[in-house]
Amino acid sequence: MQLRAAPHGALAGDVRVPGDKSISHRSLMLAGLAVGESRIEGLLEGADVMATADAMRQLGVGLERLGPGSWRALGCGVAGLAEPESVLDLGNAGTGVRLLMGILAGHGFTSFLSGDASLRRRPMRRIAEPLQAMGAEVLARSGGRLPLALTGRVDLVPITWRSPVASAQIKSAVLLAGLHAPGRTTVIEPLASRDHSERMLRAMGAKVESGASAEGWVVEIDGEPELAPQAFEVPADPSSAAFPLVAALVAGDSALTLRGISVNPLRTGLLTTLREMGADLTLANEREAAGEPVADLLVQGGALEAVDVPAERAPSMIDEYPILAVAAAFARGTTRMRGLGELRVKESDRLALMAEGLEACGIEVAIEGDDLLVTGPVGATGAATIDAHHDHRIAMSFLVLGGLGAAPITVQGAETILTSFPGFADLMNGLGASIEEVGP
Ligand code: S3P
Repeated sequence: MQLRAAPHGALAGDVRVPGDKSISHRSLMLAGLAVGESRIEGLLEGADVMATADAMRQLGVGLERLGPGSWRALGCGVAGLAEPESVLDLGNAGTGVRLLMGILAGHGFTSFLSGDASLRRRPMRRIAEPLQAMGAEVLARSGGRLPLALTGRVDLVPITWRSPVASAQIKSAVLLAGLHAPGRTTVIEPLASRDHSERMLRAMGAKVESGASAEGWVVEIDGEPELAPQAFEVPADPSSAAFPLVAALVAGDSALTLRGISVNPLRTGLLTTLREMGADLTLANEREAAGEPVADLLVQGGALEAVDVPAERAPSMIDEYPILAVAAAFARGTTRMRGLGELRVKESDRLALMAEGLEACGIEVAIEGDDLLVTGPVGATGAATIDAHHDHRIAMSFLVLGGLGAAPITVQGAETILTSFPGFADLMNGLGASIEEVGP
């Protein structure tokens, strides 16, 4: 599907973006490992999360949709999943396949896992290695890529895993495997990545401890707990909120309220950065929902200044760099975003695609090592056609840019937006944007 975004004026409105993708995947998986009936409210019903739902069903979990975002799950208990009859296809979902690998490592059967063209290109060795150290067998395509076969064991060995990158997907896969290991499994990451798995596992009764050490951020889990079913409440996704947020900040006299977004401190790097750039952002109605801090975010449009974004902030805003790069194109000066090596192995090589795409639109951009540099404010953007390369965040970033610049931008392969943000174009248009379908 091709979507074209045309320049718009100020945006205004009061909206709630769909549920958080990370917490939605985890709700389905953890509900499947609990003993008994869990409820989930606010579940993201995007393609990624629905792929996880299908996989959990194939593994024997009873899942029923009661209404929009409202689900009931009948869990099988830790180590209670059943051998799937066919290949588990996780589509575009890196979180889906990686966390599921951790769970399957503790089950004594063989599963076959695959995904779409984007997921089949992404590195899985970073997950396979710790799981193999715990006793699972993984046979993957060259470069440790999908499709792969994973044979788990019911008696995994508890390990201490030092991850070279701060990655919640690696950390969560090891912790989920640790559920099946007698004793204590430890993950050490260089910086703390998002901690939704830890929060949810604790709420369900697992013993999970975390804290800083000289080696990095340490998380420990005690194996073989019984997990209690939960009433999960999924907050709105701050990574989805980032698109209307940046659009409203840049588009003149905008005023926007984004309801109920997760403001987990390990997810708020974009808010910190935009505030440093001079953005007028206010949190209201701060509260806690099912163990996650949540707030309404009030956004007022205004001028932005370039900043230097430190590498240490990357884990807390890893999915927000594409849209931050768009914001930087309208800020005065050169914004340097440091330490973005991990962006090369996301749904696409986001570093390369952002640089190429921004340049095609007439924006001054450079890559230096793992840093992305964007200089603004751009005088007048030119019309361009951008291929999304199976990457929802690339698609949405350029549609936001098309609304903010001087000329329309067409995005090919825009159906990828459905992986994380169903209703994106309608929500944006409701605020005053102009996004329309222009081709198959
Ligand atoms: C996610 C973690 C991040 C993020 C991804 C979702 C998660 O990946 O990019 O979209 O739900 O754990 P890494 O932690 O591997 O960087």
